[in-house]
Amino acid sequence: MAREDLQIGFIGGGNMAQAIIAGLLRAGHAPGAITVAEPAPAVRARLVGLNPSIGATHSNADVAGRAAVLVLAVKPQVMPDVLAELSAARRPAGQLIISVAAGVTLQTLRLALAGSDAVRAMPNQPALIGEGMTALAAATDLGETGRAKAEYIAGSTGKTLWIADEALMDAVTAVSGSGPAYFYLLMEIMEQAAVELGLPAEVARTLVRQTALGAARAANLPGNEPATLRAGVTSPGGTTAAALAVLEQAGLRETLQRAITAARDRGAELGRSSR
Ligand SMILES: NC(=O)c1ccc[n+]([C@@H]2O[C@H](COP(=O)([O-])OP(=O)(O)OC[C@H]3O[C@@H](n4cnc5c(N)ncnc54)[C@H](OP(=O)(O)O)[C@@H]3O)[C@@H](O)[C@H]2O)c1
Repeated sequence: MAREDLQIGFIGGGNMAQAIIAGLLRAGHAPGAITVAEPAPAVRARLVGLNPSIGATHSNADVAGRAAVLVLAVKPQVMPDVLAELSAARRPAGQLIISVAAGVTLQTLRLALAGSDAVRAMPNQPALIGEGMTALAAATDLGETGRAKAEYIAGSTGKTLWIADEALMDAVTAVSGSGPAYFYLLMEIMEQAAVELGLPAEVARTLVRQTALGAARAANLPGNEPATLRAGVTSPGGTTAAALAVLEQAGLRETLQRAITAARDRGAELGRSSR
């Protein structure tokens, strides 16, 4: 069977499920091979709006009963109920489970859904525009076919990489899962500062957003390192040096380190409460 015809089911049809479904449709996946279980009728209508051939239902058991790959896209807090329901449902042999929920471990998934292979995925919000970053973790016994299916689905929304040690997935959540928010905050602060210095809001917006985009693209080129790029724009005694000195003195490095550690710890806590 062509991978575009793989039967993919989603439990939960919210933001992340919609981002992945949009990515799959962009990649040419057959819309009729996608089914979604979602309790909210308005959200189901939005899903069918993406493509009328997508199957949308309120029944988790119906979706689980036909999917070769089942993507669990519900909040971690809801996961215990969903896993209990799915463990009682009839599901195809060899079904691959992919969970995108922060903190929910492979062991939790495999204990609840015995007989299924499981992949833990941590996507991020730019998945919505095909610029996502998804880290994947699986038990060592997951075969090449299972890995390829997970890469195909997650890869439809952007980049993917595998994390060998699942214990590091909470750190991944703190860096790339929550990471877009850190850059958004920086952009908000820079736009506000620009306006306070007298620039019109529209000008501030363009200056900040194009600067962020340009810096991200430059840092992403092979061989480029942020520290080297930064040194390249920081002349001794110059304007950039004046700004960076204030940031260093204010403890930006330590503050961000503490922030990312707090996100990592919260991810672990959410995982414990979803067991
Ligand atoms: N959004 C992100 O940037 C992001 C990034 C990384 C990981 N994630 C992970 O992705 C998962 C989903 O996040 P999201 O942002 O897509 O959340 P969301 O928009 O709230 O989507 C979750 C959907 O699941 C539905 N739902 C609730 N209970 C359900 C049940 N028992 N069975 C089936 N569906 C149910 C919800 O419906 P109701 O609204 O009616 O309750 C909602 O539509 C979370 O675990 C999150 O950790 C999200």
